[in-house]
Amino acid sequence: MKTLSPPLHDCAPAMESFESEVLAGLSTFEKTLPCKYFYDAYGSALFDQICELPEYYPTRTEAAIMQGNAAEMAALVCPDSLLIEYGSGSSIKTRILLDRLPRLAGYVPMDISREHLQRTAAQLAEAYPHLDILPLCADYTTEFTLPPACRPVGSHVVYFPGSTIGNFHPIDAAAFLTSIAEVCGQSGGLLIGVDLKKDAAVLNAAYNDSQGVTAAFNLNLLTRMNAELGADFDLDNFSHRAYYNALAGRIEMHLLSLSSQTVHLGGAEINFEAEESILTECSYKYSLLDFAGLAKSAGLAVRKVWTDSEQNFSVQYLTLAS
Ligand code: AVI
Repeated sequence: MKTLSPPLHDCAPAMESFESEVLAGLSTFEKTLPCKYFYDAYGSALFDQICELPEYYPTRTEAAIMQGNAAEMAALVCPDSLLIEYGSGSSIKTRILLDRLPRLAGYVPMDISREHLQRTAAQLAEAYPHLDILPLCADYTTEFTLPPACRPVGSHVVYFPGSTIGNFHPIDAAAFLTSIAEVCGQSGGLLIGVDLKKDAAVLNAAYNDSQGVTAAFNLNLLTRMNAELGADFDLDNFSHRAYYNALAGRIEMHLLSLSSQTVHLGGAEINFEAEESILTECSYKYSLLDFAGLAKSAGLAVRKVWTDSEQNFSVQYLTLAS
């Protein structure tokens, strides 16, 4: 028997915002593109592949931390909580929590990639028939409304795994954490995955995998602009470049123009010099102390930290600072 997909609450951004954000980013002196646009259906599938790569340590390290400490984490979540996952993707690590939280008021997987979200919600509905699954298609960096739950909700617990917080500039990360703090309120909390500072060689390998999946993920942004915005990027004329910028404490991903060229998009002409790059993603790496400071600036306090034995990655539970 095929399980029906739970009804989708759609707050997805309009297509014009993709075009206008892309044009704004490509018109600046140092060209940039918002990394949230990596995640169309193909980009989300590529990201799932990245998570399985031998070089990409964050996913398996975080999953092991979750597995090893799941009971302790689940104990922090009140039974009648609404669990809200920001950027749920395939909700793989979430299952570790859901398996131990049979009395949740509901689970809200929130993602910008509509098809991927619907597929995941259908799979979860089959695996957890007693759980109220309330998929929300939204850009969690903008305003959204939570779908109404059928059961009474005692508190809101936000789950934000994968160290996606690292993809925000620290100033934006503080503002974003402040908005999460509002969702959590006095009685809720935030369970968040945070990647930690480590040897640059390990970081560089994680974003330059030998199978070229990360390169394909990066270049898919160009394919997407060609398909959805009628742009004419020549994919053979751009290449993937990623490196750890130790001064800024972040991995930078770029798309490098291999020659001087002009690209057309939405009636605009975008000129590239040879070797000019588009910054497509930053992935900040934190020390535990730095992250506690960031949380504090957002009115949050770190209550509990779990790490692997090498302190490569952390999962942290935060609540409002009293
Ligand atoms: C989603 N985010 C935390 C990933 C990261 O590691 O910054 C995205 C990613 N980009 C390249 N590989 C993975």
